[in-house]
Amino acid sequence: MSSILFIGGGNMASCIIGGMIANGFNADNIMVSEPGEESRQRLEKTYGIKTMADNQAAARQADLIVLAVKPQIMRAVATDLALTLDHRPAMVSIAAGIPLSALENWLGNSAAIVRAMPNTPAMVLSGATGLFANPQVKAEQKAIVEKIFSAIGYACWVDTETQIDAVIAVSGSGPAYFFRIMEIMQKVGQELGLPEQIARDLSLKTVLGAARMATESGTSATQLREQVTSPGGTTQAALQSFEQQNLEDVFRKAMNSALERAEVMSADFGSATK
Ligand SMILES: NC(=O)c1ccc[n+]([C@@H]2O[C@H](COP(=O)([O-])OP(=O)(O)OC[C@H]3O[C@@H](n4cnc5c(N)ncnc54)[C@H](OP(=O)(O)O)[C@@H]3O)[C@@H](O)[C@H]2O)c1
Repeated sequence: MSSILFIGGGNMASCIIGGMIANGFNADNIMVSEPGEESRQRLEKTYGIKTMADNQAAARQADLIVLAVKPQIMRAVATDLALTLDHRPAMVSIAAGIPLSALENWLGNSAAIVRAMPNTPAMVLSGATGLFANPQVKAEQKAIVEKIFSAIGYACWVDTETQIDAVIAVSGSGPAYFFRIMEIMQKVGQELGLPEQIARDLSLKTVLGAARMATESGTSATQLREQVTSPGGTTQAALQSFEQQNLEDVFRKAMNSALERAEVMSADFGSATK
């Protein structure tokens, strides 16, 4: 079994490790390198894993290294680690907005690197992660990476790095789109006369129920929508109002804004390495 090291033991690392242990990964094969003593003690106590405070010493023992630090310190962490990668572990970056070109510059051009883009529902093991690997990553390394991210929800590979920006626009930023919809449904529910708690619960359960139906029924979202839209009924009245205001265009513009922002962030990090 591969030895898996997390550099940085914060929110995202904790949630991935929690998912891994819940899905049968052996705690003996998971390690975290993290400067905060309190965080190290919490991780050891909660998950029974080993922790260290020295990134380089930890990296020497690892077959696969997940870089789970904030993007702004990634360059310093990666260039320091580059001095200890002679045994060629697979590297996985979960940092939003840092392109492969920057990671390759910092870690070495021959490094096997995966860019992973998880989202926040990973915290409740219902995440959605897009993965992209450079050609140096071997099939067996890809299989372990996929198993790690499948432990916190759904994981899929994309064919080009550009598609990672699209992943950011769909699933990376996506949870917030639905949080906004929940807020609006709750607010309008109250305006229509429902008590706050009931408006909130009905809105949340409706989004959850619709998502479960769409994922579990094997029926397309289009068919499900058509099935609940009787001619002349209430749902049709609401959907017609969406169409009149071009809801599709509203979403297209919003998701393109997310995509453009991701492209700018990648370009900024890319140029900062030159
Ligand atoms: N949170 C999300 O939903 C989410 C989603 C997708 C991607 N990501 C990406 O995941 C990464 C981590 O995010 P996060 O939310 O987990 O951040 P976080 O909670 O701040 O975790 C980062 C951890 O790294 C530690 N650290 C700082 N300097 C270090 C060093 N030199 N060596 C090793 N560890 C060091 C920090 O310790 P101290 O606190 O002691 O400084 C902290 O525990 C980011 O790159 C982010 O873009 C996050």
